[in-house]
Amino acid sequence: MTEHAPTDEIRDDTDPSTFPDAASSSTAEPPVSDWNPRGPRARRDAVALYDDMRARCPVARGPSAAWTLFTHADVMAAALDHEIFSNGASRHLQVPNGLDGPTHTVFRALVDRYFTKARMAAVEPVVQRVAADLVGQLRVPGGIDAVETGSRFAVRAQSAWLGWPAELEGELLQWMEANRRATRSRDPSRTAEVARWFDAIIRSLTDARRRAGDEAPDDVTTELVRARVDGRELVDGEIVSILRNWTGGDLGSMALCAGVVLIYLADHPDLQARLRSGVPDQEFNAVLDEILRIDDPFVVNRRVTTESVTVGGRALAAGDRVFLNWTSANRDPRMFGDPERFDPVGNAPYNLVYGIGKHVCPGRPLATLELRALTRAVLEATTAIEPDPDRPRERELPPVGGFAVAPLILR
Ligand code: HEM
Repeated sequence: MTEHAPTDEIRDDTDPSTFPDAASSSTAEPPVSDWNPRGPRARRDAVALYDDMRARCPVARGPSAAWTLFTHADVMAAALDHEIFSNGASRHLQVPNGLDGPTHTVFRALVDRYFTKARMAAVEPVVQRVAADLVGQLRVPGGIDAVETGSRFAVRAQSAWLGWPAELEGELLQWMEANRRATRSRDPSRTAEVARWFDAIIRSLTDARRRAGDEAPDDVTTELVRARVDGRELVDGEIVSILRNWTGGDLGSMALCAGVVLIYLADHPDLQARLRSGVPDQEFNAVLDEILRIDDPFVVNRRVTTESVTVGGRALAAGDRVFLNWTSANRDPRMFGDPERFDPVGNAPYNLVYGIGKHVCPGRPLATLELRALTRAVLEATTAIEPDPDRPRERELPPVGGFAVAPLILR
């Protein structure tokens, strides 16, 4: 997710200052930093900077002493080594992504229940209807910002899935924008404030279900309120954290993914024509995954080392903070040759857009289903998706990727 528009409280944050022990790093002297993840080069063209770092300094120390891993091999190895690279990297309760070992396994099993094939098959027509209604409201011919359309779609699709009222749409959209601004500001008090706002939204929904008892609506949120782990009910903080994980971080990532996918189709009319001719779901999914591999807007997740370890010839001490840069790993020429070469089938086995290992994204089937529904709805309502010659696109700023503004013309 990503981190999408992450705050520390939301999913998984890219601001090293929010790691536990940030002030008590294992090195006495502040180390010389190899790069600046938020400096002018990153703001100008983050993907180009990651490509350069991967080639020049594939295990790099940032200004706040956190490491970033850039190669496919290193990112994959760290994601698969759950012993040395712990997910306990936040001081906030994050269920399940901040958990390790057996505790993670128990909560992960709970979360996985909500993303089974049967559940996805049941929610698919609902999401398709949401996409068709939303696209039906767009002016064709006319201009859109694909990220704005993606945000609205993400809120409506997630609300339909979770059983949240349509009246929340305005507040959730406002929240997404506030979250985005807070993430950009890097001001911990602002990120804490938007996190508290989100918690209040979630608690109003869970409290209402508790009060309603047997009369509570039959939806995913009620089910979670009643769920049990290890023979006990979940405590409030756990429920809020799970729902926060599903929505807080992922509304932003869905919107960014929609922006990346629709812009790519506008820039590649041949691919657009192929999709318009009708392709089966599996092939459509592979196309979406490959577009996101080339320009992965979910940039990083973090870990903290539990013991000293050498990566790419560099010595990481126990307790060091580490970022896995998925965007860079997904463009590693050692794995993919020319990273821009579009090969959905050949590149699929190495695609890391949804992570790998125990923490691999459980929401992948839902995210894919939503993106497919939105993209198909836009294709069906139009004869062409084109770049807008009059409105420039704007890239998002690190710690997230993709576009902040993705203007398109629909015909
Ligand atoms: C929109 C596109 C999405 C992308 C690109 C994405 C990507 C990822 C990645 C790379 C991870 C691995 C994190 C790590 O190793 O630390 C992850 C984990 C996770 N994702 Fe997603 N995700 C997306 C959508 C979703 C959705 C829609 C949901 C739920 C509704 C979701 C829920 C989660 C959860 C709960 C985890 C943590 C799993 C664990 O720690 O066991 N994601 N996601």
